[in-house]
Amino acid sequence: MGKQRVLSGVQPTGNLHLGNYLGAIRNWVERQYEYENFFCVVDLHAITVPHDPAQLAADTYTIAALYLACGIDLENSTIFVQSHIPAHSELTWLLNCLTPLAWLDDMVQYKEKALKQGENVNAGLLDYPVLMAADILLYDADKVPVGEDQKQHLELTRDIAARLNYLYGNGENSVLKLPEPDIRQVGARVMSLTDGTKKMSKSEPAEGSRINLLDSPEAIQRKIKRCKTDPTRGLWFDDPERPECHNLLSLYMLLSGKDKETVAAECQDMGWGQFKPLLAETTVEALKPIQQKYQEIVRDRGYLESVLRQGREKAAAIAEQTLQRVRDALGFSRPL
Ligand code: TRP
Repeated sequence: MGKQRVLSGVQPTGNLHLGNYLGAIRNWVERQYEYENFFCVVDLHAITVPHDPAQLAADTYTIAALYLACGIDLENSTIFVQSHIPAHSELTWLLNCLTPLAWLDDMVQYKEKALKQGENVNAGLLDYPVLMAADILLYDADKVPVGEDQKQHLELTRDIAARLNYLYGNGENSVLKLPEPDIRQVGARVMSLTDGTKKMSKSEPAEGSRINLLDSPEAIQRKIKRCKTDPTRGLWFDDPERPECHNLLSLYMLLSGKDKETVAAECQDMGWGQFKPLLAETTVEALKPIQQKYQEIVRDRGYLESVLRQGREKAAAIAEQTLQRVRDALGFSRPL
C-alpha cells in the first residue's frame, strides 16, 4: 500500500507567526516522511477579507519560501499555489450547489470574522469553508493537519463529501474521499502575548500580540519583554486563573524541546524577570535556523519559481482527475 496523503494550507496574509508554526507547520515537518504531502498557499482564501493587491503575490512567495525554510522536504512534498490551479475554483462552485446554506451559517469562524468585518462582509467569506473543502477533496487527502480552530471546517468537508457521494455517487467514498482531521493537542493553540485567552492571530491589529517567524532578535526581545503577565511569583502550567503563564510556559516548552515536567521543575520558583529573558533567548535561537534558510531561499527567486512550477504541474494532474469525476457524477457533458 502507498503512503497516505496529507494536504494542508496557509493563507498568504502577511507572514507566519509562532501560532502557525507550532500549531501546524512544525507538525507537518516532523511527520512528513510518513506521508505523501501537498502543501498549498491558499491565496484565493486571502481575498475573502479586504486585501492589498500590491502585496498578494509577494506574500504568496513569502509563505512558499517559509514552508521550505521550516524544513519541508520536496522529496516527499509538493508545494503549490491554490490560484495556479483553476480546479480549486471550479470544484468550489460545484460543491456550493450541494451545500445547504444552513451549514455555512453555522460556522463559528464565519460568525467571528463577519462580526469583525461589520458592514463589509462578502459572499466569499461565507463560502470560505467550501473552498477549503475543495482544496482537500481535490487531492483525495487522507489526513489534514491543522490547528484546533479548523476542526469545524474539516467536519463540514466530510459532510459535503458524504452528501455528494450519497446524492450522486454509489456509496461511501465513491466519488470523493472523506478525509480525517489530524489535530495535535500540544501546541495546537498558541495564545496572544497581550491576552492569554485569545488565539495568536494574524488579523489582530496589535503587532505585540504575536511573534512572527521573521521577526528580528530585537523585536522578539521587545515583544516578550512587554508581553502580558500577572503579579504572581512562581510559574506553573494549567492554571485557568493564569492563562498567560500557561501560554508562555508552553511556548518555552515547545521552543526549547524540553518536556513538560522538566519545564515545570525548572520554572517553578522563577519570577517573570528571570523567565522572560530565558524565553526570549530560546525563541531567538529556535527561529535562527529558519530565518537563515529563508534568507538563502529568497536570494534565489528562480529556485522558488521552479519549485512552484513543478508543484503546480504535479498538483494539477491530480486535481483535474478528481474534478472530472465530480463533473461526470453530476452529469455534465464533456467539452467537444
Ligand atoms: N482555513 C485554513 C486556516 O485558516 C487554511 C486552509 C485553506 C486550509 N484551505 C485548506 C487548511 C486546506 C488545510 C487544508 O488555517
